[in-house]
Amino acid sequence: MPLLEVQNLTVRFHTRDGVVRAVEDVSFSLDRGETLGIVGESGSGKSVTCLALLGLIPCPPGRLEGGRAGFDGTDLLSCGERHLRQVRGRRIGMIFQDPMTALNPYLSIGAQLAEPLTCHGQLGRRAAWARAEAALTEVGLQDAAARARSFPHQLSGGMRQRVVIAMALIAGPDLIIADEPTTALDVTVQAQILDLIRGLQRARGTAMVLITHNLGVVAGACDRVAVMYAGRLVESGRVTEVFRRPLHPYTQALYRALPVPGCRGTDLYTIPGQPPRLTRAEPGCPFAPRCPAAAAICSTPLGLVEMTPGHWTACVRMQRGEL
Ligand SMILES: Nc1ncnc2c1ncn2[C@@H]1O[C@H](COP(=O)(O)OP(=O)(O)O)[C@@H](O)[C@H]1O
Ligand SMILES: [Mg+2]
Repeated sequence: MPLLEVQNLTVRFHTRDGVVRAVEDVSFSLDRGETLGIVGESGSGKSVTCLALLGLIPCPPGRLEGGRAGFDGTDLLSCGERHLRQVRGRRIGMIFQDPMTALNPYLSIGAQLAEPLTCHGQLGRRAAWARAEAALTEVGLQDAAARARSFPHQLSGGMRQRVVIAMALIAGPDLIIADEPTTALDVTVQAQILDLIRGLQRARGTAMVLITHNLGVVAGACDRVAVMYAGRLVESGRVTEVFRRPLHPYTQALYRALPVPGCRGTDLYTIPGQPPRLTRAEPGCPFAPRCPAAAAICSTPLGLVEMTPGHWTACVRMQRGEL
């Protein structure tokens, strides 16, 4: 049984400008210890997908229109806030893009790390503080005893993200949900932070959903990848397979838009056209208006088809063997 099994997740925002179809009929699963990358342009529904799993969709205007998310036997989407509060932080660790939003500016780092360990009565104050210091050392912060007494604003962005990682992992979760964990950091720090997350995750056998708009991050860190476009899943498969033979024109375009190391001076490819407005409800492929391979058939309702074992595409022309 997979650790996490998301089926037909659909989230919409009912706004004055219309219904924003942020996530439409998205399904994926994750085994214990596995890392799934969710990749797509900004606005494609990646963050809304993970917020829905954590019961954190602002409601209104957001509304969970359907779906299931089985996590170790419980449906996260219907289990209720009380159960979710136990799951968040303890069974599922979260790392968000901006470490400042995850940290309380008025509490010392050590107090924030120790809090989940003491509030469930597991550890006494002193033991929890010692664990907090150990966790800070583990994420590569020097002089953990002094760091534990400092406040978030006294640390650099990279150090704060290390603290957030320590917080996400301190209760020994089975799953980490990381939403663009390195996007807000300097390029030089990004790789270090990603290596750190990967190292800790491997050592503990923790599964991870890693959200990113950067295919390079997926290549380095993930076992499988799910590609989102305009709230839909358009392709998924093992990273090696998807990189070797992308089976959706959107994924192919994403690869073409990747900078090639050592290839300076050439213009970076950009995908022509604009992402679609999510308030329109058309059944066909949302990428069709920008797709070089679009044909009349692309306006029929889309669904994922498994082309080779574990490698799925929503491109109807690929499915028909026309591309
Ligand atoms: N609170 C909200 N109210 C209205 N629309 C929202 C809200 N939050 C997200 N959306 C819309 O949902 C879509 C998906 O957003 P998001 O999941 O944040 O994208 P990303 O892939 O960049 O993480 C976007 O079009 C966004 O405008
Ligand atoms: Mg996002």
